[in-house]
Amino acid sequence: LIYHETDATLGPLDEKIVAVVGYGNQGRAQARNMCDSGVDVIVGNREDGSHEQATADGFEVYSIADATARADVVLLLIPDEVQPEIYQRDIGPNLEAGDTLVFASGYNVTYERIDPADGIDVVLVAPRMIGTVVRELYEDGRGAPALLAVEQDASGAAQSRALAVAHAVGATRSGVVETEFETETRTDLMSEQGLFPVFASALLARFEVETEAGVPPAVTLLESYLSREMAHIFEKCATQGIVSQMDLHSQTSQYGQLLGLSEFDREPIREFMRERLAAIDSGEFADEWADEQASGYERLSSLREGYESSEFIETEQATLDAFGLRKD
Ligand code: NAI
Repeated sequence: LIYHETDATLGPLDEKIVAVVGYGNQGRAQARNMCDSGVDVIVGNREDGSHEQATADGFEVYSIADATARADVVLLLIPDEVQPEIYQRDIGPNLEAGDTLVFASGYNVTYERIDPADGIDVVLVAPRMIGTVVRELYEDGRGAPALLAVEQDASGAAQSRALAVAHAVGATRSGVVETEFETETRTDLMSEQGLFPVFASALLARFEVETEAGVPPAVTLLESYLSREMAHIFEKCATQGIVSQMDLHSQTSQYGQLLGLSEFDREPIREFMRERLAAIDSGEFADEWADEQASGYERLSSLREGYESSEFIETEQATLDAFGLRKD
């Protein structure tokens, strides 16, 4: 099911106060978009830089507990890792029957880290885009697509309320796909731990092969992704399609791309992805990640340090500086 602009209204949010809990990447973008759409938005945040930012942006800012208590609709936009603890302490006790709790990630519901009371609507509005771009697109009159799901419909209006939130955030300007929390969790985690490692491994493998064969490392890296040509090709893939965008390349390029693709053995990649998906579905990854958090992120730090000190990343960083490509 896909919803567009004409399928939604802000009606279900009439007379309702919407609290955005967490004013970070998603929170700042979604709060500002909803406010500009005409929704009555307040912010719930701990005392930190995000609290100051929300105040500077003109929002009424409360503690997370107070904002939840004042609101009818609560968007939970703090990091997934901290949500269970904050939910238990500040949010759950301040929700009332009939309120709507909106997640932007299926993770904590799928893995039962958060179990909202029966009288609450539990929905998902998950933009498929980083926060800054959710805002930029909205300001441009466009929107980022989003996934929508209903986990618990206590009021009988959960779906229309979720769609109204998606509308206010700008997502219906692009398209909102209705799915389940679990599906959002699976595909989101698969992007991160199935697809991205394959992309990054291809970049690493190319770097290793070409530098071994005498190609200057900076030339390989510029050609691979630092020149942004690859980013522009992906942009065209997203707007024209993978094969159609090939018309923008020479015939030599088209023949080389299609030949390489047809001869490539995808089975090892499929096998890798099946293993990742099995660990996602069984909850093995979620348990491992919970242990990692409890032990102070030791493995995360050592994995990161390992790559940061690799020849590939050191060359990448030096090339960014040498060509003046560094940008926040
Ligand atoms: P973020 O990391 O930008 O969150 C920062 C906010 O959380 C700040 O307001 C900060 O004050 C608050 N915060 C951080 N730690 C806290 C703690 N211990 N106690 C209380 N407040 C705390 O979060 P982000 O990336 O915006 O993610 C929010 C939700 O959106 C998550 O569920 C995430 O999975 C989802 N999401 C994020 C996307 C992204 O582009 N980053 C894309 C789509 C969904």
